[in-house]
Amino acid sequence: MQKVIVTGGTGYIGSHTVVQLLGEGFEVVIIDNLLNSEASALDGIEKITGQRPLFYQVDLLDYANLQDVLALHKDAVACIHFASLKAVAESMERPLWYYRNNLNGMTNLLEGLRSASVEHVIFSSSASVYGNTTVLPITEALPARNAVSAYGISKQVGEELIDAALVEACFGSAISLRYFNPIGAHSSALIGELPKGRPNNLMPYITQTAAGIRQQLTIFGKDYPTPDGTAVRDYLHVEDVATAHVKALMRLLNGKNEAAHEAFNLGSGNGYSVLEIVQAFERANSIKLNYVFAERRPGDVAELRADASLAVEKLGWTAQRSLEDMVRSAWAWERKARGL
Ligand code: WQD
Repeated sequence: MQKVIVTGGTGYIGSHTVVQLLGEGFEVVIIDNLLNSEASALDGIEKITGQRPLFYQVDLLDYANLQDVLALHKDAVACIHFASLKAVAESMERPLWYYRNNLNGMTNLLEGLRSASVEHVIFSSSASVYGNTTVLPITEALPARNAVSAYGISKQVGEELIDAALVEACFGSAISLRYFNPIGAHSSALIGELPKGRPNNLMPYITQTAAGIRQQLTIFGKDYPTPDGTAVRDYLHVEDVATAHVKALMRLLNGKNEAAHEAFNLGSGNGYSVLEIVQAFERANSIKLNYVFAERRPGDVAELRADASLAVEKLGWTAQRSLEDMVRSAWAWERKARGL
């Protein structure tokens, strides 16, 4: 059995990836500080897979403890690094906190991997490295040094830290996966996204509104130059995102990578407007959502959409699940998590 270390493995995308790794026969070791996730994700993972991964509640900023954990798992073949703060607006209010967490934490991890002799790294990057481009669809050829938020900059620099760690031979090869807008939850409704406090992202805001936790959804902007005036994004199902990590891992394990550090966009290539998401949610779940329109959210652009053909070609991956799957699974998870 090949062992994989997953930082942030109790989080939203991390937990879905852990489920698929276990399903593919990997042994999984999770490192997470539970800052923005719950240990109960381990129960969900166990119910789905019949296996409970080894779990360490360790903060990546705690270098000594991190080293100790990594020293116990020198036989791991790879590390998938999800652990980071991820709220764009919050990152603008507390940029140093974001840099310290996401970048110092990642530096500790990458250096630690050298002594643990882990060969391969997959990095949870983001479409935010492209900044507010108007060139669509977005290919990997577009400059990936244009992030605008502290969150986005932390992902952009995170990719550079991977390059730096390769120079210092901390590991042998890496893939950065640049996600567009992952939404939805596992088909079992046993794991999903459960943001602490007021959600920043559209889908958890919608499900919390449907659950009565929020009074109404505010749609930011109805005067964008898009067909219905609301902003367009490339949404993809979190289970598809998880699959891409397994495919990226197999690419590295099989030595199929064409460079020491590759980067791939993860998107469906489909653009959906906020209103289309709201309507798809209402239709698929037979629910009427309360919503109002408001001013554009600062920093938002009219449209972002991926060209994911490189991932199709090189990883043999495509986003397969439909918008209906995304909105249905998101609501099934919210209901179950809230006992509704
Ligand atoms: C989507 C659309 C909002 C909330 C961000 C990061 C990105 C990635 C995903 C993850 C926008 C609108 C939202 C609401 C709304 N990172 N909206 N009402 O901004 O595309 O991407 O999250 O960790 O890197 O930048 O995602 O879900 O916040 O917004 O109308 O209450 O929904 O204005 O048009 P975004 P989002």
